Amino acid sequence: MDRPSDIADAAAALRAGGLVILPTETVYGLAADAADPRAVAAVYEAKGRPAFNPLIAHVTDLAMARRIARFDPRAETLAKAFWPGPLTLVLPVADQAAVCDLARAGLDSVAVRAPAHPVAQALLSAFGGPVVAPSANRSGRPSPTTFADAVGETGPSAVSALDGGPCAIGLESTVVALLDRPRLLRPGAITRAQIEALIGPLAQAQDDAKRSPGRLARHYAPDTPVRLDAHAPAAGEAFLAFGPTPARDRTWNLSPSGDLAEAAANLFAHLRAADRSGATAIAVAPIPEEGLGEAINDRLRRAAGFVG
Ligand code: TXA
Ligand code: MG
Repeated sequence: MDRPSDIADAAAALRAGGLVILPTETVYGLAADAADPRAVAAVYEAKGRPAFNPLIAHVTDLAMARRIARFDPRAETLAKAFWPGPLTLVLPVADQAAVCDLARAGLDSVAVRAPAHPVAQALLSAFGGPVVAPSANRSGRPSPTTFADAVGETGPSAVSALDGGPCAIGLESTVVALLDRPRLLRPGAITRAQIEALIGPLAQAQDDAKRSPGRLARHYAPDTPVRLDAHAPAAGEAFLAFGPTPARDRTWNLSPSGDLAEAAANLFAHLRAADRSGATAIAVAPIPEEGLGEAINDRLRRAAGFVG
């Protein structure tokens, strides 16, 4: 599938067990009916993803989310503050939830998020139930942030594809587990500070390797090696700059003004462009570890293969 479809076609494709390329405000997803194990199996196959890595169920709003997950007061607080938007909550799965075991990788928890993108909202309303949508890349590759990149990654397996333009945020959602103590499983556009202001301290994800097996060290990886904290490129290297930097060959600036939101939005597209440039390595300028910088550095360390 490489031509844009409309919402009615895409909803019909989901009902028939087909896969749909779906824009969200974070990254493009590869969507399927969360209740249909054969459709969910096709998502894992299209991504080349280990079947033990659970998927996020996307919903229109808190009312639809309550049909699949059990909300405690902290979960309610976060959903009311940040939905629709780039926050995923991992919660105890509800009885009779329309999210199949395979989508949850057999866990008794479920990840749920209400995306803010109008095209995603329109599809979820037309379909009327939860839709799983992992990022539309092949497993281990950078998440697609444009329609063309999404189609280039998993287009052949989709029967329908929705074009929502470039993703405004460009980084995957923040994932917070509220199972025992609140844990930050994946930093993202909603920052740790924003969440801690509402529900108190978040524990680190490190002990949760079994619960969030998607957090592999080498993830979001281009084919070209990545070198972090570089102040300038060496001969033969491409360069991802941040802040005022002279224009050079094979240099892409994540944000000439040093704006972290702009850098997040550009990150995956620039990584892909540098990866295609034929450089021996991709040197990346230091990014401050504050606010959105925590999520950007998390993705960069994974691209470099450094996170254990
Ligand atoms: O921004 C996003 O979240 C995008 C867009 C398309 O919505 N989706 C996305 O999905 O990034 P995916 O499948 O690439 O990442 C889901 C993450 C994985 O790290 C997975 O391990 C974790 O959420 N996850 C899902 N269900 C979980 C669960 N029950 N417990 C712990 N982690 C879970
Ligand atoms: Mg992903």
